[in-house]
Order: sequence, then C-alpha cells, then structure tokens
Amino acid sequence: MAAVRFLCQSLFLFFSLSRLALGSSSDVEALLKLKKSFVNTKALDSWTTDSFPCTGNTPWAGVVCFNGFVTGLRLASMGLSGNIDTEALNEIPGLRTLNFKNNAFTGPIPAFNRLIALKVIYLSGNRFSGGIPSNYFLNMDSLKKVWLSGNEFTGKIPESLAKLSHLIELHLEDNHFSGHIPDIGQPSLVSLNMSNNKLEGEIPASLSKFGSSCFAGNGGLCGSQVGKKCGVDAMAEDSIGAISNRSNPNNAPEHNNVAAAALTLVMVVLLLGVGAIFILRKREDKFNVLGRENLDHAVEVHVPSSVHSKKGDSVRRGADSSSKRGSQNGKSAASMGELVIVNDEKGVFGLPDLMKAAAEVLGTGGLGSAYKAVMSNGVTVVVKRMKDMNRVGKDGFDMEMRRIGGLRHPNVLTPLAYYYRKEEKLLVYEYINKGSLLYLLHGDRGPSHAEFNWPARLKIVQGIARGMGYLHTELASLDLPHGNLKSSNILLNPNDGEPLLSDYGFCAVVSPTQGAQAMFAYKAPESLQYRHVSPKCDVYCLGIVILEILTGKFPCQYLNNGKGGTDVVEWVLSAMSEKRERELFDPEIASATNSLGEMERLLHIGAACTESVPEQRPDMKEAIRRIEEVQVEGSNNEGGGLQSQWMV
Ligand SMILES: *[C@@H]1O[C@H](CO)[C@@H](O)[C@H](O)[C@H]1NC(C)=O
Ligand SMILES: *[C@@H]1O[C@H](CO)[C@@H](O)[C@H](O)[C@H]1NC(C)=O
Repeated sequence: MAAVRFLCQSLFLFFSLSRLALGSSSDVEALLKLKKSFVNTKALDSWTTDSFPCTGNTPWAGVVCFNGFVTGLRLASMGLSGNIDTEALNEIPGLRTLNFKNNAFTGPIPAFNRLIALKVIYLSGNRFSGGIPSNYFLNMDSLKKVWLSGNEFTGKIPESLAKLSHLIELHLEDNHFSGHIPDIGQPSLVSLNMSNNKLEGEIPASLSKFGSSCFAGNGGLCGSQVGKKCGVDAMAEDSIGAISNRSNPNNAPEHNNVAAAALTLVMVVLLLGVGAIFILRKREDKFNVLGRENLDHAVEVHVPSSVHSKKGDSVRRGADSSSKRGSQNGKSAASMGELVIVNDEKGVFGLPDLMKAAAEVLGTGGLGSAYKAVMSNGVTVVVKRMKDMNRVGKDGFDMEMRRIGGLRHPNVLTPLAYYYRKEEKLLVYEYINKGSLLYLLHGDRGPSHAEFNWPARLKIVQGIARGMGYLHTELASLDLPHGNLKSSNILLNPNDGEPLLSDYGFCAVVSPTQGAQAMFAYKAPESLQYRHVSPKCDVYCLGIVILEILTGKFPCQYLNNGKGGTDVVEWVLSAMSEKRERELFDPEIASATNSLGEMERLLHIGAACTESVPEQRPDMKEAIRRIEEVQVEGSNNEGGGLQSQWMV
C-alpha cells in the first residue's frame, strides 16, 4: 500500500516539477518579450531578467500566478500603449485571463483570437478602433467574459459572438458599432450592455431579459426595451420576418422559434444522455459506442420488472462473453479464477451464479459498462465491467478492493465482490432500484419528482456530505478518497431516501491517464490545468453536485466536449455578484419561500467549494461543517412530509 501511494505521489510530483521547470522559464521569456512591445513600461519595472514572475518575495506587477504558472495578466490603468505582442502571449500556455482596461492602446484589435483557451478578456477604456472581423471569436469557445466597452470600435457586432456557448458577460457599450444586433442570446449570458453605439433594427427576442439601460443611446433600435415599436419598414427589411402579431400564438416570432429550437436541442441532448441507457438495453452488442460522455457506468435506472420478464432479453453478457473468450483459449470457467467476496452482507455467491443469471445492460461510461443480474439467492446485483484499472497488479487490486469492501456507512454503497483479470475487472454491487440522483434530477418528470422538494434535497446534500466525510477519513491515504463524485454515482436508498455514494476509491487502481478520461475529480480546474489532484478535487465535485441540486440544471462540467448543459459555476458566480441568487433555484424548490435564506446559504457553500483555486476552497471537513449547519426553515411539518414520501 505504501508503495502504491508512493508511486502515486511521485508520479504527480514528477509532473508538477517538470512542468514547473519548463513552464516558468518560458513564461519569463514570453512576458519579457511582451513587455518589449509596450510603450511606457514604468509600471512593469519589476519584470526583469534576473527574477521570476511567480516566485520570490516580489512577484511581477500585474502577473497572476497559480502553482508557479502565469495564468493571468492584470495590467489595468498602467498607462500602457504600443502594439501588444500576441505571439508572446501565445507562448504562455496557462494564460486564461487578460486585463488591459484603461490604458492608451490604439489601432485595430490585436490578434487575441489566437489565444483559444482564453476565458476572460477586458479591453475597456482604451482607444482601439476599426471593425472586428465577423468570425473573430470563432475559435475562442472558452470565452466567458468579453469587455470591449469604451473604445472606438466601428462596424458590425461580430456574428461569431453568438457562437460562444459559455459567454456570460458581453460589454460593448460606448463604441461606434452599427448595423443590426446579431442573434446573441445564449442562455449562459447574464450581463450585457450595448448602450451608446449606432445600432439599429429590432432588438432580438433572445435578449428580452435585458432592460432598457443595456440598449440606451442607439437611435435606430426598436423593441419594447427602448419603448419604440418596430415599424412596417423594419418588418419588410427583416428577412426572417421576425415581427408578427405577438398576441397570435400560431404566428410566433421567428426569434422565439430559434430560442425554442435551442431549448429543444438542450433537452434532446439531455434526453439522449438519459435515453442512451434505454437504447443500450436493446442494443447490447453496441454498448460501447454510446453514452460514454454523460453517463457513467454507475447509472442504475429503475427498470420496470414487466420489461425485464416479458421481453426475453435475458442475454448473458459480461461474464458470459469473457467465458467464451476463455474457452476459446482452451480454458474452462473453473480455471478463470474466482469471484472474490469482499462484503458478505448480501450472501455469498460465485462466478457460476453470476454467469447463470440473466443480465440486462444498464449503461456505459468512461470506466466501463454496467449490467443488472438476479442471483440464484434472490439478490439483485449490478455488475460493473471495468476497462483497464491496471495501475497496480493483482495483489494491489485485491488489497484495494478488500479495503473498500470493509467500509460501512449509511451513505456509502460498499461493493460485494470483484473478479480480476488483467484485461478486465468485474465489480459487483447491490442493485439500488430507486436509481441515481442524475435520473431523479434530470431524467424523470413524473409525480414523484414534484415531491423532490427543498427538505428532500437538503437531506440528500447532507447525506452526501456525511458519506464524503467518512470516505475522507477511511481512505485518507488516497489523493482522491472518492475521485468520481457526480450525480450519476449517487444512488438513493429506497428505504429511507438517504443518498448512497458509489464508485469511490478507484484512484489507487486507475492510472492517472485513465482517470483523467473517466473520473470526474480529474475535471477539477487544477487537475485540468496542472495535473494536480488532491482531496480538494473531491470538494470541487461536491460543490458541483450542490449547485446541480439547487439549480436543477445539468452541469456542463460533466461533459467532455463542453457542449450542452449549464456552466453552473459561472452562472452562480455571476448571479451572486449581482445579488440575484434567488433567480437560480430550481422552480420546484423556489416556491418554499420561507427557506430561500437557507437555500442561499447552501448556494454560497456550493460556490465556495467550486472556487477554481483549490487553496480558496474549504477543505472537506469545513465544507461538511457548513453544510450540516444549514437547516430546513419554515416548519417542521415539511420534514414529516418528507419521511412519508420516502417510505413508499
Ligand atoms: C450600460 O452602459 C451605459 C453607458 O456606459 C450605462 O449608463 C448603463 O448603466 C449600463 N447599463 C448596465 C445594465 O450595465
Ligand atoms: C394583433 O394583435 C392586436 C392586439 O394585440 C389585435 O388588435 C389585432 O387584431 C391583431 N392583428 C392580427 C392580424 O392578428
């Protein structure tokens, strides 16, 4: 065990050290090159060849660092001018935020669009001028905040801004932009200003949530926000024929259709994710091609027993196919090794039981696929067939499985057994028929969902926190005691409604490469950027789950391709900065107006847990303490109602 851990740590240390050595020196060169491109660099006197931007007693002025890497430049109000060397900027791999506010830069917008990982760009208060190419922002899909206000930009607002799916803030006010407003209106957008330009035509319906002060000072604009009806001319001009009689529902404006289409698309993406499991049930042979991104193998969906029994889909899979392969090699099932029971609370069974049982595909995910099977002793189990998991050898694997098999906590689902082969591993768990939190939040809109109220959600959050506290104590030697906390890995105990954490403790058996592809804790910002993982990554995952439960939105953080879902972290941050927290809550809980204060408290805890800098996150203990302090306010009756809901 010590050896495993040592290996684990030294690997990460190796990564960190090699990045540190390479990263910083190239950052130094790039920054000095950048400085050369500025005129009047008095404010940057600390940028010298004989010091380092991030280390030492005096970090360089305006340089934002994280773990020894440059991640941002905060060069506001430094009297800078000149031609910003974007090639130098491009040599700083960790760069995510750029702030050049209130300087004296002039001329056309520099080629910042080569910095495709940029998240934030502030250029406000300079004298940049000229048009911005329509496709300028096309490859900058990470952009969340774009501030171009207070310059002298002319021409049309670039259409490509409408393609930035993570855009939260867009400030174009006080320029000379002209023409129509493109169809910007991505749901992520929460802060917008286009005042004081030369814009004209109808304000797109997709921007109807923004008030008059966002559009003022544009003589040619029309729409309810600016108190000016769009006339017949505008109607004729508008090729989509966007303006029609709003009181006539059969003739809804095209823009609304666009918004509706976008919404439908999001729904389809979500449904596809959840639906994949159902499709998979029918197409077991192709289970490895679908649903990989949004669903983990751990999604246990309640399958009506009628489906199960009447459709003769009781194909033997998993163990079955491996036995076929085994016999091709001239080996019998008996020589394939044993199913090792690590937890006998649900009885003892062997590999033959498993192979005889009718199996049903439940789903597939980054680590493997899952099947449901009823054993001869009557216990229904989920068999997870895992890929790789070869970070350690057979003995190491055995040790880890026995360790997690020994865990007992009301909020932790302990595996029952495992089966080891170099090429694949089977893990056997008790089947929990109430399904996962993912399914409850996003998959089912039936009557029981309506009762998924605030007390029920708070209880789930607190149960998750207790389970995490237990794992962080019992598996404290792991870098990631859980490692894969997300709503699809949180099951609900049908007896008491308590959440059950599943798929934890794999960090010791999954290689960092496989983990980075398949385990959610590796999606914490510090892991994505610097390959640094620690128990704080689990805190980040806990934060995402909290925000997911409060907002009822599917977090885009769960997806690998960044398409679909809601960036709950940014959304919550923006709303908090504008004191609009209450608009975020899932309408199904927001009606409990007595409890809004408590919901806000929990929201702030979720936001703290998802801070991008791990040092700014509470540790697991502190997070749990704060979560436990949140109360169901208003009445105690609600709690009673909750009980009966779950006692069904
Ligand atoms: C938009 O910008 C104008 C001009 O700078 C300002 O007066 C107004 O308050 C801004 N509105 C919002 C909502 O930011
Ligand atoms: C449009 O709506 C108004 C009321 O908002 C109504 O008086 C008018 O008849 C409608 N026109 C058409 C063509 O439906």
